[in-house]
Amino acid sequence: MELTPAGVGQVTYILPERCVQKKKRDKIKALLAGGIEKPDVLVQGWVRTRRDSKGGFSFIEINDGSCLANIQVIVDRKIPAETVRQLTAGCCVSARGNLTRSPGKEQALEVQAAEVTVHGTADPEHYPLQKKRHSFEFLREIAHLRPRTNTMGAVMRVRNRLAYSIHRFFNDRGFVYLNTPIITTSDCEGAGEMFQVTTLDLSSAPKANGEIDYAQDFFGQKAGLTVSGQLEGEVYALALSDIYTFGPTFRAENSNTSRHLAEFWMVEPEMAFYDLDDNMDLAEEFVKYLLADVLEHCAEDMEFFNSRIDNTVLSNLTHIAREKFERITYTDAIHQLRKANGNFVFPVEWGCNLQSEHERYLTETVYKRPVIVYNYPEEIKSFYMKLNEDHETVRAMDVLLPRLGEIIGGSQREENHDVLLQRIQAKGLKPEDYWWYLDLRRFGSAPHSGFGLGFERFVQFVTGMENIRDVIPFPRTPKSAKF
Ligand code: 4AD
Ligand code: MG
Repeated sequence: MELTPAGVGQVTYILPERCVQKKKRDKIKALLAGGIEKPDVLVQGWVRTRRDSKGGFSFIEINDGSCLANIQVIVDRKIPAETVRQLTAGCCVSARGNLTRSPGKEQALEVQAAEVTVHGTADPEHYPLQKKRHSFEFLREIAHLRPRTNTMGAVMRVRNRLAYSIHRFFNDRGFVYLNTPIITTSDCEGAGEMFQVTTLDLSSAPKANGEIDYAQDFFGQKAGLTVSGQLEGEVYALALSDIYTFGPTFRAENSNTSRHLAEFWMVEPEMAFYDLDDNMDLAEEFVKYLLADVLEHCAEDMEFFNSRIDNTVLSNLTHIAREKFERITYTDAIHQLRKANGNFVFPVEWGCNLQSEHERYLTETVYKRPVIVYNYPEEIKSFYMKLNEDHETVRAMDVLLPRLGEIIGGSQREENHDVLLQRIQAKGLKPEDYWWYLDLRRFGSAPHSGFGLGFERFVQFVTGMENIRDVIPFPRTPKSAKF
């Protein structure tokens, strides 16, 4: 039985006793980062390549996913020939021996394996990851094997670091992490893009007045998958002050683009007593914090993206982490776009939605930095956004990034009950569907704001990956949910 040396804070905890003394595995990242020779290490992972030398040795490269780099293992002549034959790309092995300085130029350290165990072979006739490089389209067809490529490994480590640093950012600032429901009966964006959740057999569903009778459905009313946790987030912000959600979000929009998924993850902070300026300040600080953190903690993977995927990624991220974001009203944005003299596919006039080409023009050509556009026309934004005194615009804000476009959408929320009710009705929504949301404006209403950051879009931006389908383990898009 072991005790931790000084305990954690005031609390001491007891480590479990090991029944059998077993040799502990060494992760490749730790061995390489240590940078020094070490006797008797145990490396476990998947073989990337094997070369045989004339002297009867074999060199294998093993990757265990802990870092981008492989470790070179020298397979001793004493290892049986039938084991060596099984050491092909994709097989899973344990290799035990001394970690020593390598005479080769390619690596500083290597393992002199005295023992090699093959756990799972990978028949070279059939294992699909034989070549060094495959197209991302091809890899999407083998989503169960693509995590074993350099690119997907690096994407997932960066994604993991970003998720960790999102939680750190908010927890360090006293925000409470909130889990909002995945199944819901309210359409937050009011855009009718909800996937339906039902246990009814739609071919023989019970009817009332010619329509499906959802009173007989599982939840007793029509339900769907959430498009955003915001409305429920507001409920808790008006009690705990600062909360954030970070969860899966679903949209049945038929957008087959490199920036849209039907299932994606969204980070949504919601803050009581924040106005639109406070909201924009938090969004800017948040984005910069995440970029600085990933540059510091994912240096090896970021170098890889810079050399193999997009050679501007490192300089862009460094620049954005340091520079102030531009903030302009929607009306000013329209002025800027009209000055471009109609060089757009989608015509520009006050009241139009900003298209990707407009967002890119503002961030890449006019301001050469991230741009926060605020005060959008009421007509093109959701019902919950606070109406400005001009009665034409709402306190909405979108954060636009170069190359990617919209990464964050947010707003100050309408806290006045009657104005909110009127906007719900004007948008053709049913007030009874939002009764509890309206109630928040009847009991202790407060000014408050929040925003949503699309997690995959952010991972896409950070890594420079072209397609959003390659930054989520199992992408869901129209006509595609195979794995
Ligand atoms: O702008 P959106 O629709 O805002 C909301 O849902 C608000 N309720 C957020 C809030 O105020 N709490 O979505 C927020 C972000 C977008 O800026 C975009 O980055 C991402 O979510 N997003 C998508 N990402 C991938 N695939 C899709 N289909 C996406 N739709 C939105
Ligand atoms: Mg939006």
